[in-house]
Amino acid sequence: MKIITVTGYKGGVGKSTTAIHLSTFFSAQGKTILVDGDPNRTSIAWANRGSVPFDVADERQAMKMIGDSEYVVIDTPARPNTDDLKELAKGCDLLVLPTAPDVLSLQPMLETARDLGDANYRALMVIVPPKPNREGELMQKELRDNKVPIFRTMIRRTIAFPKAALLGVPVRDMNELRLKEAWKDYANLGNEILEILK
Ligand SMILES: Nc1ncnc2c1ncn2[C@@H]1O[C@H](COP(=O)(O)OP(=O)(O)OP(=O)(O)O)[C@@H](O)[C@H]1O
Ligand SMILES: [Mg+2]
Repeated sequence: MKIITVTGYKGGVGKSTTAIHLSTFFSAQGKTILVDGDPNRTSIAWANRGSVPFDVADERQAMKMIGDSEYVVIDTPARPNTDDLKELAKGCDLLVLPTAPDVLSLQPMLETARDLGDANYRALMVIVPPKPNREGELMQKELRDNKVPIFRTMIRRTIAFPKAALLGVPVRDMNELRLKEAWKDYANLGNEILEILK
C-alpha cells in the first residue's frame, strides 16, 4: 500500500483538486481510496455531486474502508504549522505540497522546505497561468535553485477544474475536449509519483 498525502500551509491552493485527480490517476493502477481529512469535506462533496472512479471515505471511517487498497490518497485542511507537516510526512510515503506561483507564496514555501528538512515531500506548482506568462516556470526555478524538491510537472490554471468540481467529476471525465486537456497535467504528475514511489 502506498499513501500519498496532499497538504500545505495555505488554504485554497488546489489541495482537494489535486487529491481528486491523483486518486483518479491511481484508480487506473489499482484499488484506490481517497480519505477526506478536511472537516470541510470538500472531496466527499465533490464525489457526491457526481461520480468518481474511486472510493471516498471520511477520515473517521477510513480505517474500516481502506481494506486492501493499493493507493491511499489523503486530502487535508491547510496546516500552517510545520510541526504538523513533519508529523504528516512520517505517516505517508510522499507528501505533496501544492503551491501557486505568486511572490507571496515563495518565502513561506522556502521556510516550509527548510523546516521539513529531509522529509519525503515534493512541492507542486499549481494554478499556473498559461504562456506567455512565465510565473510558474520562474517560481519552479527559484525553488529548485533553493534545493526545494519540486515536481517537473506543473498544473495549468484552467476553468476546467472549478467546472469539474461543480459537476462532481475529474476533468478526465468531462465531455468537452477542450476541458479534458488539463487531465494531461495530472496524468503526468501521477506518472512522476509512480517513479518516485518505485
Ligand atoms: N489548476 C487550477 N486552475 C484553476 N482553478 C483551480 C485549479 N486548481 C484549483 N482551482 C480552484 O481553486 C479553488 C480552490 O481549490 P481547492 O478547493 O482544490 O483548494 P484547497 O487547497 O483544497 O482549499 P481548502 O484549503 O479550502 O481546502 C477551487 O475553486 C478550485 O476549483
Ligand atoms: Mg480542500
